[in-house]
Amino acid sequence: MSNDVAKRAFVSRPPEPPAWVLLNDPFQSIFIGTTRIFKIPFSWSFMNLTNPHICVVGITGAGKSYFVKTLLIRASYIWNSNAIIIDWAGEYKAWVRQSGGIVVSLGKGDYINIMDLSGMKPLDRVKQIMNSLDILTDISSYPEQRRLTDEALEQSYLNAGFALAEIPPKDKDAPTLKDAISLLDEKLQEGTYQYPAELENTIYRLRQFAREGEDYFSRKSTLDLEKLASSGLVSIDLSNLPDEKFRALAGLFILQTLKEKMRSEGWSGSKGLKAMIVLDEAWKIASDEKSDAIMIVREGRKYQFGLIVASQNPTDIHESIFSNVGTNFILRIKFQKFLDYIQGSLNFSNFIRSEISKFGVGQAAVEMAFQTSIRFPETFVLEKIYGEEPLYSYTIDMSDILTQAELAANLMAKSYEFEKSDLRNKFIEYNIGSDEIDSIFNAMDQNDRSIKMLDLVNLLRDKNITLENIIAFLKSLSIEDEITSRIISRSKA
Ligand SMILES: Nc1ncnc2c1ncn2[C@@H]1O[C@H](COP(=O)(O)OP(=O)(O)O)[C@@H](O)[C@H]1O
Ligand SMILES: [Mg+2]
Repeated sequence: MSNDVAKRAFVSRPPEPPAWVLLNDPFQSIFIGTTRIFKIPFSWSFMNLTNPHICVVGITGAGKSYFVKTLLIRASYIWNSNAIIIDWAGEYKAWVRQSGGIVVSLGKGDYINIMDLSGMKPLDRVKQIMNSLDILTDISSYPEQRRLTDEALEQSYLNAGFALAEIPPKDKDAPTLKDAISLLDEKLQEGTYQYPAELENTIYRLRQFAREGEDYFSRKSTLDLEKLASSGLVSIDLSNLPDEKFRALAGLFILQTLKEKMRSEGWSGSKGLKAMIVLDEAWKIASDEKSDAIMIVREGRKYQFGLIVASQNPTDIHESIFSNVGTNFILRIKFQKFLDYIQGSLNFSNFIRSEISKFGVGQAAVEMAFQTSIRFPETFVLEKIYGEEPLYSYTIDMSDILTQAELAANLMAKSYEFEKSDLRNKFIEYNIGSDEIDSIFNAMDQNDRSIKMLDLVNLLRDKNITLENIIAFLKSLSIEDEITSRIISRSKA
């Protein structure tokens, strides 16, 4: 009996949210893709959700960055949103440049002074710096060293003429970590401090961020975050910093500063999103309880920006991010322990779990947290994220086929150029399968989006594409018969 009821409940329960939830006002939402079962076009809006924050997970190559780019571009069309990408691995910079955005590279010409105030009271900034040191170093296990550091930071502000609990004047230069280190050094030289070893260790810990040549955070800032936050599309490339600790320090500082700036501007739920802040592959920034990333997500709609946290490793993302963001996009995940972790946080069905492990590129399970209680499943599957394909041009290079004389005579095309989707369509037209097409594009992507004609034809023959189809493809490029036979005869059988 109870079995019957359970079965019926399953059958009558719709497997996807109703259309009125998925279809939003096109002028106030972002189109993402079509649902798998009912093929409903899903457009994302945060209006009915608990908050605008988003978490994206999936293995490398699953399509996280592609999705993030699509989201940013469409948010800029629809809400005029600015975007700041905290670009851990430098994987957004080419795209940002190509889209007309700004790229700043820390560790390569650009510096941040982590003591800069950007309108904040010195006491608040000191708290933030201590918080970052708690996350990134072992300082919290050494209370005396923590106290010494805190005191030296405060004293540096006082020495530079700031009042600790007051909003600073705009034009005054903030001290740097080097000033704080000098104060500690002086104290050590005086020789009167009771625990010199504690003092030495305090200095040593701070010095790792202020060493000559690695003083990325202890020089006058070259970066105006306040201005960058309203400059359209911006990538802050962290890939040139020496290691994860430096990247995390920069990431935490940027997040803290933007959060403070947006706190003062407040939230207006009807106006869209002023900015999107992206943390892609953010290591401790997304996993440490004390990180601002977690605070921002927990505080929900307090700020007028959406935080997007993306990672290939779900266990790098604190559980409370999964459970508090308004929307989770789960792309392909393979490892059982990652599936366990994320299923434990989100409670989706075993059916969805098994789908997630089988997803192809661009497929995703979407989980949304609504402001009011709902009577439909919160998790559904998107057949494919429909992205903004950048207009890359792909080249088939004829220089390995034509003779020197032919090349010099300039009578025949030396290369053929295509926009990506045109070339893809052409391959499809000549019965080249989608796996084969993907591997051709992979080969071209590794070589500046170009391939030599003979390599292409060899690749096609390797993939068992029929000669008939290959010849038809060559003909469609208006290659003369004589050249076509030359290509075929030189290719491996
Ligand atoms: N929804 C999609 N539709 C078409 N191509 C996609 C899609 N998502 C990803 N790709 C392609 O797959 C490759 C890997 O995507 P990427 O976003 O870099 O993965 P990740 O960031 O998860 O490692 C890229 O070449 C990208 O263009
Ligand atoms: Mg990526």
